[in-house]
Amino acid sequence: MDKIRVVGGIPLSGRVEISGAKNAALPAMVASLLTADTVNLENIPYVRDVLTTRSLLQDMGAEAEVREDGTATLKAGEVQSCEAPYELVKTMRAAILVLGPLVARFKKARVSLPGGCAIGARPVNLHIMGLERMGAKCDIVHGYVEASTSGLHGAYILLETVTVTGTENLMMAAALAEGETVLDNAACEPEVSDLAALLRGMGAHIEGDGTRTIRIHGVKKLHGCRYRIIPDRIEAGTFAIAAAITRGDVEVCDCNPRHLTAVLTQLSQTGAKVTIGPDSFHVQGRDPITSKNVTTYPYPAFPTDMQAQYMALMTQGDGSAVITETIFENRFMHALELIRMGADITIDGRQALVRGGQPLTGARVLASDLRASASLVLAGLVANGETWIDRVYHLDRGYHKIEEKMARLGANIERVH
Ligand code: UD1
Repeated sequence: MDKIRVVGGIPLSGRVEISGAKNAALPAMVASLLTADTVNLENIPYVRDVLTTRSLLQDMGAEAEVREDGTATLKAGEVQSCEAPYELVKTMRAAILVLGPLVARFKKARVSLPGGCAIGARPVNLHIMGLERMGAKCDIVHGYVEASTSGLHGAYILLETVTVTGTENLMMAAALAEGETVLDNAACEPEVSDLAALLRGMGAHIEGDGTRTIRIHGVKKLHGCRYRIIPDRIEAGTFAIAAAITRGDVEVCDCNPRHLTAVLTQLSQTGAKVTIGPDSFHVQGRDPITSKNVTTYPYPAFPTDMQAQYMALMTQGDGSAVITETIFENRFMHALELIRMGADITIDGRQALVRGGQPLTGARVLASDLRASASLVLAGLVANGETWIDRVYHLDRGYHKIEEKMARLGANIERVH
């Protein structure tokens, strides 16, 4: 199994180009199930979750090609099976996204329930509730959701919790349902709007995406299209923190800084100098790093997917910071590894108290999930000596060659096979 070796102490400097957004690419690829035509996507990041989604589509009998240059050609003319098996869903929970499109177009689906994961329970009850409101019958049998319908119809659906993939799943289903669907308390994440834009390109009638109320007028048929995925705001944010934590000077290019307002504002408050351009931003790390509290909330607030990386930064702060996680109940696994590197962190339920100013020392650490791995890389960049990060497959789920991008900025980092 691959490991990453980092030797800390070098301020990063230079330019880094950001890949397409993993969390926009996955629903976009799955949306190809809604039409028999070809869907051509651009700016698809060549990461593990994208390749898992390709396997999922191929497994159903769809044609799915993903290339390292960021293009993907997808055609679900025929499908032999409407099933997402446990083996694929357990490695990538976003596989639940096939549920809505399959039921909407083929009137049936069998999708493994994701179950628990390292960051908490992550139920899919709202995905199921929404489909039932639209006229699907859903049963849980042998760990699978088995859904069928004689035809979906529009419905008013109030989502009691803001759910990103739940909103996306129901938006895709509603695109082919008869009549109007209203999704209330919908997720406003840029990835949801990106999916809405793709669906519009395929002939769907959707308005209100990017707000808490999305209206979808179902159409009989969708068609193929060509669409370019938005840049990955979490990858961009991770490099922003890499610049700040190493007191480096990095220009983060090919991104949309407007999707990172909360993260970049927070970073400025910690003392980094942030200069924003139209499709890039520049971060100059400064000493001292000011400790600042943060709380994760749904977009446009500070994202849970940046919480672990921000915790790594706060270990270097000049005081204490309280980090509150409101989205997932168990998303502090990285704290235990950061503590092994010398950080002073106390966890109390959904809050972590990070006392800064502790020098980190390199250690052998285990990545527990995707963003936790990123925080360990960031900590390794400032730790004294060598850090070895194990279970790098978590990192590969969502970052395209992070070690090569960081090495080009001057970091002493390598992948060891
Ligand atoms: C998506 C992102 C993930 C990010 C998360 C929150 C993708 C592929 N993944 O995950 O990177 O961390 O949004 O921004 O886009 N919930 C329910 N019932 C449901 C669904 C969700 O109670 O049916 C709860 C969850 O337990 C959690 C909260 O809603 O507490 C938010 O989860 P959700 O937005 O659904 O996360 P994902 O879409 O899985």
